[in-house]
Amino acid sequence: MHFGQGLTEPYALALAKGTGTLTLRPDTDQTADPVDFDVQGWCAEASPAELSVLKRLDGPLLDIGCGPGRLLSAAQNLGLTAWGIDTSAEAVRRARSRGVRVLEQSIFDPVPHTGQWQSLILLDGNIGIGGGITALLRRCRHLIAPQGTLLVEVEADDELDTVYTAVLEDPAGNRSAPFRWARTGTGGIAARAPRSGWTVASVHRVQDRVFCRLSPSAWPSRTAV
Ligand SMILES: C[S@@+](CC[C@H](N)C(=O)[O-])C[C@H]1O[C@@H](n2cnc3c(N)ncnc32)[C@H](O)[C@@H]1O
Repeated sequence: MHFGQGLTEPYALALAKGTGTLTLRPDTDQTADPVDFDVQGWCAEASPAELSVLKRLDGPLLDIGCGPGRLLSAAQNLGLTAWGIDTSAEAVRRARSRGVRVLEQSIFDPVPHTGQWQSLILLDGNIGIGGGITALLRRCRHLIAPQGTLLVEVEADDELDTVYTAVLEDPAGNRSAPFRWARTGTGGIAARAPRSGWTVASVHRVQDRVFCRLSPSAWPSRTAV
């Protein structure tokens, strides 16, 4: 099951309205904190912080978990060839209505132009997709061009590192089916990058957000995994 999907579909309902708050809540693990998302922010324009990191990327760019397409639209306006990928039909519908190109599928399914993407972006908590950070980093390593860049937004808390089963809820009580999710800070990326075929090239703190730029390195040998 994917982020916010299933049962009474709070993610699709919120995107259709374009406003409101969604809460990502641990399903059973009470040690993980809930996270609130502002749906209007997802549906608005890219922020100055997001524009500043997008400006430093090359196309073709793939926005993994692009949602309603805010970042894709900004990338396109910057002159980049940009595609999005998302499993949510409502997110894809909204993104396409902004005039951007989106594949409606999982990042773990076969992706066109594998090995040729100059930039991959995982922003807004999307490093959590699939609930397996090493698996997602490895998937991205297969997709990236030899001189490409993977941009990952991480938590402001460098030490935070958690994988859990979550649900998405809205204030009206609509609730998704449980899905696996993850959250991590710079420490979790630094620890997993070498065993996923990446080097952390730099870390940028822009306003209160943290972005890691990763460059592809040699695939680790089996013993290093
Ligand atoms: C936290 S939301 C981020 C939304 C988006 N980045 C934005 O700014 O509007 C996570 C997004 O990842 C998508 N997603 C979840 N699992 C996915 C997968 N396996 N492959 C592609 N997209 C996925 C969800 O449908 C959702 O749109």
